[in-house]
Formats: sequence, C-alpha cells, structure tokens
Amino acid sequence: MNIIEIIEQKRQGRELTGEQIEYFIQGYTKGEIPDYQAAALLMAICLNGMNQEEILAMTMAMANSGETLDLSDISDYVVDKHSTGGVGDKVTLIISPIIASLGVPIAKMSGRGLGITGGTVDKLQSIPAYRTDISIEEFKNNVKEIGISLISQTFDLAPADKKIYALRDSISAVDSIPLIASSIMSKKMAAGANRIVLDVTYGSGAFMKNVSQAKKLAKAMKEIWQGKDKKICCVISKMEQPLGYSVGNTLELIEAVQALHGQMAEDLKEVVITMCIQMLKLADRKESDAQLENEIWEVIHTGKAFHKFVELAQKQGADAAYLYDLNRLEKAPIIVPVLSDEKGWVKALSAEKIGKISIELGAGRKNKEDEIDRRVGILLNKKMGDFVENGECLAYIHASTAEKIDELVEKVKSAYAFSSKEVAKENVIYTIL
Ligand code: URA
Repeated sequence: MNIIEIIEQKRQGRELTGEQIEYFIQGYTKGEIPDYQAAALLMAICLNGMNQEEILAMTMAMANSGETLDLSDISDYVVDKHSTGGVGDKVTLIISPIIASLGVPIAKMSGRGLGITGGTVDKLQSIPAYRTDISIEEFKNNVKEIGISLISQTFDLAPADKKIYALRDSISAVDSIPLIASSIMSKKMAAGANRIVLDVTYGSGAFMKNVSQAKKLAKAMKEIWQGKDKKICCVISKMEQPLGYSVGNTLELIEAVQALHGQMAEDLKEVVITMCIQMLKLADRKESDAQLENEIWEVIHTGKAFHKFVELAQKQGADAAYLYDLNRLEKAPIIVPVLSDEKGWVKALSAEKIGKISIELGAGRKNKEDEIDRRVGILLNKKMGDFVENGECLAYIHASTAEKIDELVEKVKSAYAFSSKEVAKENVIYTIL
C-alpha cells in the first residue's frame, strides 16, 4: 500500500477501503507519513467527502491509534458532552460542574481552539497553573474522587486526532462532515464515556453553515455511536452571533464563572439548560424537564456548581483564589471601546467576523504551533435584538498592543448590521435529535 495512491484515489472522489484508512492513520500517527502528504489527503477528503463506512473506519482507526479507557468501574454511566464548535462557546466550563454537582460523573477530554472556534482547553488554561495534561491514571482518579475531570487530549488517547486536528486547522480543512464526525467520535470512543450529548452548531460562527448540514453531521455521529448501553443525543443550535458576551479565553472563563453564579446571557442560558437536561436524561434521570431545570438552578443558586468547579481546578493544580477573585486574572493591557456610528436595532452580529478578529488579536491560532494570548478578545456590549444609540458602545476590544487598533475597531463595527425596525430576539436551540 502506498500513500500517494491513497491520496490519488480520494482526489478522484473514489471510496477508500478500511485497510487504506487504517494505513494512513497508523502511518501519520507514527510519523512515517509526513504532514504534507497527510494534508493532501485531508484536503481531498474535505473536497470529496466520505461515505458512512469510510467515516466509521476513520473513527475506529483514530480511536484505536492510542489507548482506550475503560471507565466502567466508576459508574454504570459516565456522561460526556462535546460541541462541534462555536464562537464564544464556553458551555463545557459551565455545564460540567453543574452536572457533576448533581451526582453524574463527568470525564471529558477537550480540544484546543480550531479555526475561528475556541477550545475548552485554552479556556481552562486561563486559570493559572491548571493542568490539562494530567496522566490517564490521575484523570480516572479525579472522576472517582470528585466526580469530574476535564483534560486535554493526551498523547495516549486518540493521538491520531490530536495530530490531524492541529494540521486541519492550519490548512483550512476544518469544515468537513467526515473529518469533524471522526474527530469527535474517535475521542469520545477512546475516552470511555458511554453517554454523550453533542451540541451540533450551525450558522456563520460554526463549521456547518446551515441546518441541513448540521443534521447530516448529527446523523453521521449518531450512526457511529451504536452498541450496548451507548446513548447519544444531538442538540442542534444556531451560532449566527457569538454565544454569550465574551470571545477570547480569559474573558470566556470569567463569563463562565459568572454563569456558575447564576448570571447568564439569554442565549447562553438556553444552551446551558438544554444541554444539562439532556445530559441528566441520558444519565437515566426520569424527572420531567421542569423538575430537572429546578435542580439545575438549585445547584447554581446554592453555590454547589461553582464549588465543584473550584474543586476541579484545585485538583488539577490551579490556584482557586483566581476563581474567587476574577480581578486577579491577567487582563489585556489595551482595552478600547467600539462606538456605534449608527442607531437602530442590531439585526445581525456576525460570529464569523468576531471569531476572525479574535484570531487577529491572538486569541486563536493561525498555525498549529502558534502560542495564543489568553488575555485578549472581544467583550460584546450589544447583541442581536438590542437597541443601540449613535455613539453607544457596541463592544470592547481587549488587545495586547495598540498597533492596528483603529483597523480592528472598524472590523468590529462591520460585524454589526442595524435595522430601523425592532428586531425580535431569537431562540438558539433549533431541535433535539
Ligand atoms: N471539535 C472536534 O473535536 N473536532 C472537530 O473536528 C471539530 C470540533
């Protein structure tokens, strides 16, 4: 078998065999296939797609490229969640401690930022000294002892995905159903949870641009997750504007902590509550949605969910004082308001444009080796449906330097569109599959 033939076959739009996919995944993981050939094959997959059998073969090969965890000694069910990506999506940081404080074990391996979408690992690392790279033993022990662990993809679990994910990001091969489905599901398989809730996003700030693509992606992932005692649920949600008010790692961490204290933007609240209810249902909780929602608010209002987050951070090496006093987190040196030149109701706020500006600020990576700046980002002051006066503040740019700041201010303004008529605020959850 040889990699050039495999690339050519996919470039011509032909189906790959399970053996060819296995050969590629093994060869690339071991470093026998170089980045440039892997990039060519990934781009061919991106352009020509894969059928369900190929997606399944790719997922299994990636899941088996490293260790696979068995968490069955922790509980009959371990629930996990994953988002297909979004701008301002800090949902994992909020719902994981909520669910764990309701007695459902959470064992989650998260990714770094990819394309314009942020990654949970980058946000967790905004808590000084938080270790996302703990050993698998420690990961399991934390879930056993405190009911929660959030880590990055270690090299032992689905290492193929770790390499492919970073490479895809740097060659613009991200928004592909087979590549996203195999990336997410291989990690879920390797990480050992048996119940998963997926937030499948669509819109300008998501990899899937419309509902029909999002449904296709959800279907591909659901078909992979078959087997005894495996349960899955997909929440399809809109990502036209950033979720919540903050975009950028430390800013999103701050918003997540505020949410754990009960202060949540409407759209963020809708996603958080929906995802939590679905996770509890998959953990065999039989109460009505309204009862489950009450329990969720109870752990928020009593401080249990926030304390679970503190416990998690401490367990993974962080200094929890930063979570008690968010002002101690390092801020960007330059904070500039963006003032509106127009008056009216915000009818659009492009998540894609805001995501790109946040990458320019240094909150995300242009190349896989890039260091990110956790302090920078955009704090929105106005969102869709809000009324804005001429001269009112739309958002604040948090930057590391004043260089190019005028250009960035104009870019943030161009992410907004206004209407002279009142614009209704829309729900973000489209459906649950
Ligand atoms: N999240 C992942 O883990 N992988 C993708 O490809 C996209 C989002």
